[in-house]
Amino acid sequence: MKLWIPGPTQVRPEILAECARTMIGHRSDAMAKLHDRIDPHLRLAFGLPAESRSSVAVHTCSATGLMEASLHGVGKRVLCVVNGSFSKRWAEIAQILGLETVVLKKAFGEAASPEEIDAALREKGPFDALTLVSNETSTGVRTPLEGVARVLRQHPNVLWLVDVVSYLAGMPVDFDTHGIDFAFAGSQKALALPPGITVFCVSPRYLERARKAKRPSYYLDAVRTLDGHVERKTPATPCIPLYFALAKQLEDISGGVTLPAAEQHLRGAAAWSARYEVHRRMQQRTERWAHKHGLALIPAPEHRSWTVACIKQGAFDVARLLAEVKQRGHTISNGYGDLKDISFRIGHMGDHTEDELESLLSAADEALAALAVKA
Ligand SMILES: Cc1ncc(COP(=O)(O)O)c(C=O)c1O
Repeated sequence: MKLWIPGPTQVRPEILAECARTMIGHRSDAMAKLHDRIDPHLRLAFGLPAESRSSVAVHTCSATGLMEASLHGVGKRVLCVVNGSFSKRWAEIAQILGLETVVLKKAFGEAASPEEIDAALREKGPFDALTLVSNETSTGVRTPLEGVARVLRQHPNVLWLVDVVSYLAGMPVDFDTHGIDFAFAGSQKALALPPGITVFCVSPRYLERARKAKRPSYYLDAVRTLDGHVERKTPATPCIPLYFALAKQLEDISGGVTLPAAEQHLRGAAAWSARYEVHRRMQQRTERWAHKHGLALIPAPEHRSWTVACIKQGAFDVARLLAEVKQRGHTISNGYGDLKDISFRIGHMGDHTEDELESLLSAADEALAALAVKA
């Protein structure tokens, strides 16, 4: 059975095997070496240039933990762009943490424009931070980072916190170029690992502000975790099997191993870029498939995610489509949140190949034909 839901994604057997390695102590030299293996490739994942002063680290918790951690120590007032279930969750967390939270609300399936973000920052500010879910997995909406980055250059006191959960390793983040201050991604999306750890990256100015602030958490204190990473230690016992898997997966991505045969000679940043292009082609192919069946994508063309397609339901029952596809060896997903009953989603992310996508789409062709006959 191939898993095409928008996370957790299919994990390669070689990566699963890493999770079964003999255990090591988390304060051992072996663990420090594991950090050494992870660090340089994680910096490539966030698109950091060699001279970057931004810091990366890994935390044992799912991405929701980092939504929370990112907000500790940023200040009192936060603007949250809410355009799907996960951005809504982040705004809720900000409220629970007692931050003065202003929501810039968009319909699920849409993205906030740079102009709307700029207007909200000007009219409802001053703000200490802006939260943005760059790829709303619930709706397949990608918010291009360039436009928001341009706006935030006009608001130098606002820290930019970005959820790249289903974006990282599927699309280029370019953390420093865009002036992002905090970004995080769970392991179970385009990194194609099992769930349970989250990787993150912070800017020097985020660290500076957070260090001076009162941060009301021990386990979810990003500063503590980042400082630990520098010393190749973790504040608490990490999920070591997933660290093994992460190290191998990052080395494989940087070493071209996960690319199509013709591109496997690529290394480093070039290999990461080629991985993004595979995702982009899979998005385009899925879109052509949907159009062939007269199905529409929920997001506008300029906001379509490269990692997850959110397709409007046609003249069929989504649950029956999912069941027919499953009978043919593939699992795809129903909609989520506000779009639960009117859409279905295909998570074409991670280590799925373009050939595998062809077999999924043929299975989906057959499934739709079977539904038409039954109707
Ligand atoms: C965009 C986005 N942000 C945050 C989360 C929350 O991640 P987790 O369930 O791993 O805590 C998800 C989960 O699917 C997500 O897709």
